[in-house]
Amino acid sequence: MAIAAPISPEHIAIVKATAPVLKEHGVTITSLFYKNMIGAHPELKNIFSLSNQASGDQPRALAAAVLAYATYVDDLGKLGHLVERIAHKHESLNVQPDQYQIVGKHLIEAVATVLGDACTPDIAEAWTAAYAALAYIFIGRERQLYAAHGDWPGWRRFRIARKEPETAAITSFYLEPEDGAALPAFLPGQYVSIQLFVPQLGHMQPRQYSLSEAPRPDYYRISVKREDGAGAGLPGLISNILHADYHVGDTLELSAPAGEFFIDPNADAEQPVVLISAGVGLTPMISIVNSATAAAAAGGPKRRISWIHGAHTAAARAFAGRVREAAAQGTLLNTTLFVTEPAAGDAQGAEYDVAGRIDLAKVDREAALFLGDARAEYYVCGPYAFMKDVEAWLVRAGVAEDRVHLEVFGTGDQ
Ligand SMILES: Cc1cc2nc3c(=O)[nH]c(=O)nc-3n(C[C@H](O)[C@H](O)[C@H](O)COP(=O)(O)OP(=O)(O)OC[C@H]3O[C@@H](n4cnc5c(N)ncnc54)[C@H](O)[C@@H]3O)c2cc1C
Ligand code: HEM
Repeated sequence: MAIAAPISPEHIAIVKATAPVLKEHGVTITSLFYKNMIGAHPELKNIFSLSNQASGDQPRALAAAVLAYATYVDDLGKLGHLVERIAHKHESLNVQPDQYQIVGKHLIEAVATVLGDACTPDIAEAWTAAYAALAYIFIGRERQLYAAHGDWPGWRRFRIARKEPETAAITSFYLEPEDGAALPAFLPGQYVSIQLFVPQLGHMQPRQYSLSEAPRPDYYRISVKREDGAGAGLPGLISNILHADYHVGDTLELSAPAGEFFIDPNADAEQPVVLISAGVGLTPMISIVNSATAAAAAGGPKRRISWIHGAHTAAARAFAGRVREAAAQGTLLNTTLFVTEPAAGDAQGAEYDVAGRIDLAKVDREAALFLGDARAEYYVCGPYAFMKDVEAWLVRAGVAEDRVHLEVFGTGDQ
């Protein structure tokens, strides 16, 4: 299959006309696609999250992306944000141009199998051309991203230099490069992928973790919540392995920092930043806060930051000491802490500000939400439904949607 752009008007017409069929069968097609592709290329088990396959999140994410593409095939500008997010995820997993041939072959074969006789030669040809055009876009963007960190191709070995519990569930890992070379700066809010060998599976598994410290040349820090499976879920694979089996001196492999959820610490000082997080969604936020306060201390722009965070209990909130310290340093950082279940000894104004789950209606509209300031940027991280609620609330309050940035700690839109 030739990977090329552009796609002809005839092919565009067929792709748009068949988009509803794809919508109906999208997840069946993509589930079959993954099964066949991984059967033919078992080495790909090393880069796809087995849990996202088992839960169906990854086939759903791919089906949604293909459908979005079919819908906007004649107006690709509308897909800019989706392409950017996927390209960064691919970059962090070291996806390579030649792998697009493999994905394309199995995707088109799965379309043909599921649609049966309905997949006429014209339809197969149009979708093959459409896939090639989409692959061309990704390969081009990913080439740019790889070129930006040329001296870090693929995976780099890191040693765990410190392992520190932040709360009962969240532990920080301080990771130093084994080669001793200085680490590149990243944009605060970005993440890395880690990969490690899972003995019970017999292959590697990757996961993404936001960098939870300001950029520094000597180490990166990640802060991992142990997904214990309490409630409805199954225990998480990698977070439990990291907590239980990875200790100081052990090594992990990391890809270079990636991701489109970040602030520019040197942006206009007049542009306020509002961070809204829940649970472990605070990890990119602490990097943003530490980076912005460091930039201001070094004579850079003094951007006003408001951080609204929700935790189940005050004790479950990581980095509380550091945040109090940053807030005490001046007028730069304003925090509002919601605690769902304050403990008997917790004092309002100290351990928490507002009891209950995050409710933006209870937050100061100007001092904490900057609703009157059309330059304010909003960064939201937490469970998917929470983020969508926050986004909808902000849009209702008059914030333009493109000023609201979400970081999904999973794959696709759940
Ligand atoms: C950009 C980004 C940044 C992130 N940053 C952080 C961070 O800073 N800190 C952090 O702790 N996490 C972060 N994450 C989440 C992290 O990557 C992992 O998803 C998380 O640690 C869980 O991984 P796990 O291997 O322990 O769980 P997994 O094994 O991947 O399981 C994840 C979920 O899937 C469910 N599941 C597993 N198997 C099945 C099945 N067969 N059927 C149905 N459901 C199933 C589990 O119950 C669990 O809820 C981030 C994710 C992304 C994408
Ligand atoms: C045009 C072709 C492709 C499309 C439309 C596509 C789409 C997607 C989407 C929508 C996601 C989820 C992103 C997110 O939510 O963060 C994703 C993730 C991923 N993609 Fe692709 N992709 C393509 C090609 C490839 C190729 C060639 C590979 C390499 C074999 C690949 C490997 C992966 C992996 C490993 C993930 C992460 C999966 C996980 O976390 O479970 N993709 N892709």
